[in-house]
Amino acid sequence: MIVMRIGIAYDIRDVSAVSCEGPEDALEEYDLPETVEAISQVLSSMGYSVVKLGGGREFLQRILREEVDFVFNIAEGRGTYRSREAQVPAVLEMLGIPYSGSDPQTLAICLDKPLTKRLVKTAGVATPRWIVAESLNSRLINALKTFPLPAFVKPAYEGSSKGIRFSSKVGTIKELIAQVRFVLETYRQPALVEEFIPGDDVTVAVLDSPPRVTGIMRVLPKDGYDPDFVYSLEIKRDWNERIFYECPAQLPEFVEKRLRRDTLKSFSVLGCRDLSRFDFRISTEGIPYFLEVNPLPGMRPGYSDFVIIAERMGYSYSKLIELILESAFKRLKMKFFPRDEHYSNEEPLKCRVFDKRRL
Ligand SMILES: Nc1ncnc2c1ncn2[C@@H]1O[C@H](COP(=O)(O)OP(=O)(O)OP(=O)(O)O)[C@@H](O)[C@H]1O
Ligand SMILES: [Mg+2]
Repeated sequence: MIVMRIGIAYDIRDVSAVSCEGPEDALEEYDLPETVEAISQVLSSMGYSVVKLGGGREFLQRILREEVDFVFNIAEGRGTYRSREAQVPAVLEMLGIPYSGSDPQTLAICLDKPLTKRLVKTAGVATPRWIVAESLNSRLINALKTFPLPAFVKPAYEGSSKGIRFSSKVGTIKELIAQVRFVLETYRQPALVEEFIPGDDVTVAVLDSPPRVTGIMRVLPKDGYDPDFVYSLEIKRDWNERIFYECPAQLPEFVEKRLRRDTLKSFSVLGCRDLSRFDFRISTEGIPYFLEVNPLPGMRPGYSDFVIIAERMGYSYSKLIELILESAFKRLKMKFFPRDEHYSNEEPLKCRVFDKRRL
């Protein structure tokens, strides 16, 4: 019997690796060992042989040494580059190894929030009005002076709430300039200035092959409805006390219809694959405004939004991993064997495209 070897690519949150000069949320997007362990256990229980590949240099060494047939990718990439999420899939494409999730191009685009907004806008999806502040020169300050307030300021190439604080919502030009300066200096990248959309925060999980909305979750503050509520880092770190998750979200029918349509339009125009999570703000008039997409959403059991949505919609953690794998295998035209069915000698591996001798 030949058992398929699946590698997991990931970046672990290693506190010792943070430089003293980095912002305190520098490692926020990286994964905890328990997430890798949970994915590994599901894949093993499905009968696959699992290889933990890690990230960065360790990943490069292991991917050349280990003969894996497929990679389950959750690696966020190294450094602060806006295309860091593309690093692992780019290497895998170079080596001809199939993997789960979006390709390097989509991952690179989606970490760049202004670029992503331009693309979804061309597909007819509403997104808050915005400008990008690359430096605080006089031309930019003049542009900021006419920008509608309140506004919302965030780093242009981050996720996991990095750089999103209570102070991100600004009501005066003075606060706006100060917050732009904070982002430019702390995150060393442009600041995205958006019109603040009062209303509800919703996040939409999509699974693929074919693309479908798996569930919609509304994030609500525990201390009562507040259209100015912001799902900031302070709130995420204290989520148990501060918020509750409503899933499925109780939205008016016309809102939900448009939200589903706009989510799938965005998934398609951005070229997402296998899974993605979309964040929208629903205005008080019921218009869904696209905020951002996470083509590599967090997968921490019992904690990450995508996992919570899946659970509330009736999918266990192992079912979720199985569905992601099934989508990737379908797309790659690889044979998918659910739990307890292995590859046999009569069924040679259709996916063994990696050949060390070619290197
Ligand atoms: N234009 C806006 N108007 C109102 N609120 C906003 C706006 N942009 C962001 N927010 C608030 O800030 C939160 C985080 O913003 P966003 O989703 O862009 O950041 P992120 O760090 O990429 O998120 P994630 O943790 O999902 O990766 C949103 O969920 C929302 O509550
Ligand atoms: Mg978000």
